[in-house]
Amino acid sequence: MKALIKNEEILDPNFLPSKILHREKELREMERCIRDLIEERRANNLFIFGRSGVGKTTCVKFIMQRLGGEVIPIYVNCWEHRTPHGILLEIAKQLGKVFPSKGVRSEDISEEIISQLFERKALMAFDEIDKAETLDFLYPILHNLRTTCIFLITNQKDALLRIDERILSRLMLQKLEFKDYNYGEVLDILRERVRLALVPNSMDENALEKIAIETFKACDIRVGLLLILNSARIAEGELAPRITEQHVLRAIERSSLKKEVKLSKYEEMIYQILKEHGELRVKELFHKFCERGADVCDRSFRNYLRNLEKYGVIEILGKKRRIVRLR
Ligand SMILES: Nc1ncnc2c1ncn2[C@@H]1O[C@H](COP(=O)(O)OP(=O)(O)OP(=O)(O)O)[C@@H](O)[C@H]1O
Ligand SMILES: [Mg+2]
Repeated sequence: MKALIKNEEILDPNFLPSKILHREKELREMERCIRDLIEERRANNLFIFGRSGVGKTTCVKFIMQRLGGEVIPIYVNCWEHRTPHGILLEIAKQLGKVFPSKGVRSEDISEEIISQLFERKALMAFDEIDKAETLDFLYPILHNLRTTCIFLITNQKDALLRIDERILSRLMLQKLEFKDYNYGEVLDILRERVRLALVPNSMDENALEKIAIETFKACDIRVGLLLILNSARIAEGELAPRITEQHVLRAIERSSLKKEVKLSKYEEMIYQILKEHGELRVKELFHKFCERGADVCDRSFRNYLRNLEKYGVIEILGKKRRIVRLR
């Protein structure tokens, strides 16, 4: 088979690119908050919002990776950690203090966090904040830590309306909107990914343009990444020397049939397990996933689940969202 894909990881939606295109203004705004924090001016807290797949998480993680030693980075995904207690446990864990998941009071965890961060500079990013049950956990942080900068990230603009007034007034949030990319920007971002992920000159220009149009229509870069991967696989399967518009058209056709979507290696593995076993508890699913040789941590596993939920391939049920099944 003619290999067209050089590095599949680069097309994974969780891959963190080393170059971010067309988000200069947004990155500058975040950097400004961090500079204020470092220079001991009062830093703004940010409410970061914009549609799904416009680069919010990517930009925040990019900034956090480059913080340097002076500012402590804490990143919590509230899709994974929904309860105030769970969120506090996760913050403490990232500060190196692992509490047992049961039998500890939230107040004690808060106290530990505050004593560790007191008079130290920290950036706390709470992603998918609309999924958190409440933001009460922020109260002691805001009350006691003056050198912590907070980013709240969501794809739901009205998430602000649901924040308790008492917390909202203390947060003094500045809004940072991630607007949709225009067509040219989508094309640039996807072209760069193709350059990194595929063998040189393996995609026709009109094939890439077709993918960019679909991505622009969906307003989600993930759609483009998936289409690049699927059309490359189709072309490879045919032993074609290059990916043409025809391959892309077929990939589009397939991806509209949800369950036919070609997923990344690990997403595909999760899909297969659910197909064989029907409904499973998240823990059992993770166990089976590892048994099949997946060498990823629990956090990455949850990222794959999140993607599958976003693609509409799976649903997660139960009050505590512990049961997974195919849609
Ligand atoms: N400007 C960009 N440059 C490079 N890659 C990008 C850019 N914007 C988005 N991407 C890619 O698109 C995908 C989706 O981005 P990301 O996960 O940051 O979206 P999001 O805004 O956080 O979406 P959601 O609200 O669904 O969480 C990622 O794989 C990311 O690498
Ligand atoms: Mg995100």
